[in-house]
Amino acid sequence: MHNITLINGDGIGPEISDSVVKIIEKSGLEIDWDVQTAGSDVIEQEGTPLPQRVLDSIIKNKVALKAPVTTPIGKGFRSVNVQLRKALDLYANLRPCKNLPAIETRFNNVDLVVVRENTEDLYAGVEEQIDENTAHSIKIITRQASERICKFAFDYAVKNNRKEVCAVSKANIMKLSDGLFLESYRKIAQNYPQIKQREILVDNLCMQLVQDPTRFDVLVLPNLYGDIVSDLTAGLIGGLGVAQGANIGKDCAVFEPVHGSAPDIKGQNKANPTALLLSAIEMLKYINENNYAQKIENALFKTLSEGYKTADIGGTLSTTEFTDKIISNL
Ligand code: NAI
Repeated sequence: MHNITLINGDGIGPEISDSVVKIIEKSGLEIDWDVQTAGSDVIEQEGTPLPQRVLDSIIKNKVALKAPVTTPIGKGFRSVNVQLRKALDLYANLRPCKNLPAIETRFNNVDLVVVRENTEDLYAGVEEQIDENTAHSIKIITRQASERICKFAFDYAVKNNRKEVCAVSKANIMKLSDGLFLESYRKIAQNYPQIKQREILVDNLCMQLVQDPTRFDVLVLPNLYGDIVSDLTAGLIGGLGVAQGANIGKDCAVFEPVHGSAPDIKGQNKANPTALLLSAIEMLKYINENNYAQKIENALFKTLSEGYKTADIGGTLSTTEFTDKIISNL
């Protein structure tokens, strides 16, 4: 029996987490879910969107599965997602991106991994209103965080038989901040002579990714570029409904899809649970339940290969119908 924290989220969060919990339960794996609420719904009673109890639960269990939580734009509270990553020092955001069976996309052999720094850069939230017409947002890049994320990317490459780690920056313009990121990459890369090194500017990367994503293997990026590029790579394999992610720190890990709470389809039984399910499969591998991870992945791939899909990837099934098909293929 595993104890795992479950954050159901809001928007489509509860629909897709119900689906994933049900699939894991039917696979036969026993998990004691410690369900924790967070986000705008808990502010009124608890005064914060991210109560300490949520952090305590993750620290205790060391692993969490998280559905998306809404962040209002321009006002209100700071993103629960960003706060969570920061509070637990989940410094590595890992977003593998590989074609799935029977999902038609422009390219057939996409297999790359985005490793995004998760704790600093423009996401540090250091902003100030200078006057009515001017606002500043400070981009923070440190040697410690840059070296740590580059080491994570190279270690991941070694462990997963990857050939190359490419550093992404805009160091030609942001010579000091992105320059420091690149300098850190070069230092860490020296310890991994077996892995190919490469450096690219983020604008050129975007152009090349849409021309031919097979040119890339592992990408390591500061926070903001990583956020944007990983949505682009999600698009290469069928969109946000199938893009998985994980936030990994020294002591704990939170597995969550790349997508947000999709308020436009909330409560309509339309959401694709695949991205959260793939994130959960990675979580099962992380806790060494490889057999169950494989069993669930096989059922998902079989379901997709049989042509059963939700609307976002060209199918007609509802969330619950798609979930039931996966369960029948377990
Ligand atoms: P979004 O990812 O929620 O939605 C973008 C588009 O993709 C929408 O058309 C949506 O319907 C579709 N989509 C997303 N996930 C889907 C799924 N599983 N199945 C089918 N279609 C899906 O991005 P948006 O609209 O920019 O953000 C909505 C809210 O989510 C915002 O408050 C944002 O801050 C928050 N957000 C939360 C994240 C998290 O909790 N980790 C990550 C990204 C955004």
